[in-house]
Amino acid sequence: KFTPRVFSGIQPSGNLTLGNYLGALKRFAAKQDEGVETIYCLVDLHAITVWQEPEALKRQTREAAAAFIASGVDPSKSILFNQSQVSAHAEMAWLLNCVARLGWMNRMTQFKDKVAGKNAENASLGLYAYPSLMAADILVYHATMVPVGEDQKQHVELTRDIAAKFNHDYGTEFFPSPEPLIEGTATRVMSLKDGTKKMSKSDPADASRINLTDDADTIAKKFKRAVSDPEPLPESAEGLTGRAEAKNLVNIYAALADVTQEQVLAEFGGKGWGVFKPALADLAVAKLSPISTEMARLRDDPAEIDRILGRGAEQARAIAQPILERAKDIMGM
Ligand code: ADP
Ligand code: NA
Repeated sequence: KFTPRVFSGIQPSGNLTLGNYLGALKRFAAKQDEGVETIYCLVDLHAITVWQEPEALKRQTREAAAAFIASGVDPSKSILFNQSQVSAHAEMAWLLNCVARLGWMNRMTQFKDKVAGKNAENASLGLYAYPSLMAADILVYHATMVPVGEDQKQHVELTRDIAAKFNHDYGTEFFPSPEPLIEGTATRVMSLKDGTKKMSKSDPADASRINLTDDADTIAKKFKRAVSDPEPLPESAEGLTGRAEAKNLVNIYAALADVTQEQVLAEFGGKGWGVFKPALADLAVAKLSPISTEMARLRDDPAEIDRILGRGAEQARAIAQPILERAKDIMGM
């Protein structure tokens, strides 16, 4: 009954990383060639759940749009827009705030991770409510598929719970139950400095991540200094068990080269990190340098980015607004 439709988003909250590229952007571009409608969003309303310098947020929003386009998201094939330009997201979020239960929000591990070691009482209400805004982002398009990294799985499951409760409470089949698409070897790229943390643009340590804008020397240096262990690479994937750092570097190679862990280890098994890390750096530079070059070109043409985002917002509104109106009508408004 629901048209297959893909929705996903990325926060314009700083430098996009190799984790965002492999876990999200690369897969977003691949989806648009599979014959389904694809809708991609720079989620600035999510970004402001933690403090953002206004000027920096403006710059980062254009920069993130450039990263989408440079990674292969084609604005003539996909809808690419900025969340705050489509007010249906915030409106739908309020409707869903009244459907979601406090107990469900209390179970969200991302909120707990983000306030860990800080005074949770001082977190914004928006940071706490973030998952119901994400549910609104998805449901206001009746999206059926959500390509995300492993870290977002719980939020997509919450979206399904909210959709089901709305449908149940109002006795309708109005919302679809969207599927998280968590695919490939890079669903959770880890920090280069700490194999237990995910690579994130919000990690203060720049050496922990590869930024899409890093130059070749920086990329080579970061991989050279990445944590590994004293053993050579194993001959097969089972040998990666219990070796988080080794597994992470092998996964990054596999995802960049579009091959399996086994194929990487067939080539590098038994070799040392002194061989593997430079090969990984070369591969990363080969894959990322066309992206950073294109991002630099787009950075010089902000008017073009604004035009693309403006057009994307119009297309997004045309889908979201009628769905929002119907949701309000179902609720008696
Ligand atoms: P970040 O966590 O870097 O601030 P976002 O929350 O904006 O990024 O996430 C944007 C998308 O990128 C999501 O689909 C998320 O799952 C994916 N993503 C973020 N970090 C990683 C990572 N280290 N590995 C794989 N996917 C990731
Ligand atoms: Na995240």
